[in-house]
Amino acid sequence: MIIAIDGPAASGKGTLGKRLAHHYGYRHLDTGVIYRAVAWALMAAGEDLHNEALAVAAALELDPEKFGNPVLKTQKVGDGASVVSAFPRVREVLVNFQRQFAADPPGAVLDGRDIGTVICPDADVKIFVVADPRVRAHRRTLEARVRGEEADEEAVLADIIKRDERDQNRAIAPLRAAADAHTLDNSNLDIEAGVRAAIAIVEAVRARR
Ligand code: DC
Repeated sequence: MIIAIDGPAASGKGTLGKRLAHHYGYRHLDTGVIYRAVAWALMAAGEDLHNEALAVAAALELDPEKFGNPVLKTQKVGDGASVVSAFPRVREVLVNFQRQFAADPPGAVLDGRDIGTVICPDADVKIFVVADPRVRAHRRTLEARVRGEEADEEAVLADIIKRDERDQNRAIAPLRAAADAHTLDNSNLDIEAGVRAAIAIVEAVRARR
């Protein structure tokens, strides 16, 4: 079984993905980390994020062993990821890795922006997570502070709105719900309630088969 979870920045899809994978004994891939790793490869080398050829080269050389690097979680690298992920050739290079991950047994949960629409259009269950931008900004601010980073909630909100716009309006694989996705509004749910709602969606889909 393949579960696809898409949604905007800081909607909680990563946590839901991890928890769903744990619940069902599946593997989990946070696909945002892939684009973050590409952005970081350029940033660490002092290169321009708008250089498509270098971004493609970084995507071709990607090392999944490095996906755990804490620097990838920072807002700065997330913004960079939003820039490099708009290059069609970068996305093209990364499709196979994601599809292979999804196909390996026993099952997988992938979260990102285009999992239900482009990477796994035949996923068994598609969940589109939404949450109020203010709620997302508040959560991101708290997370950044826990990591010891300085974070101003208004600036985080502005960043989230800018990122939503870039992710939704890019020409290729924009952030949008697949026609057959189930929307989960995570605005007023704590983690446990969100996980229960996601499991309920999966179970409802399974019961119909
Ligand atoms: O989910 P995230 O914040 O880690 O994602 C960082 C950026 O990567 C996001 O702004 C857009 C891009 N991304 C993408 O284009 N496609 C995905 N499947 C996942 C992330």
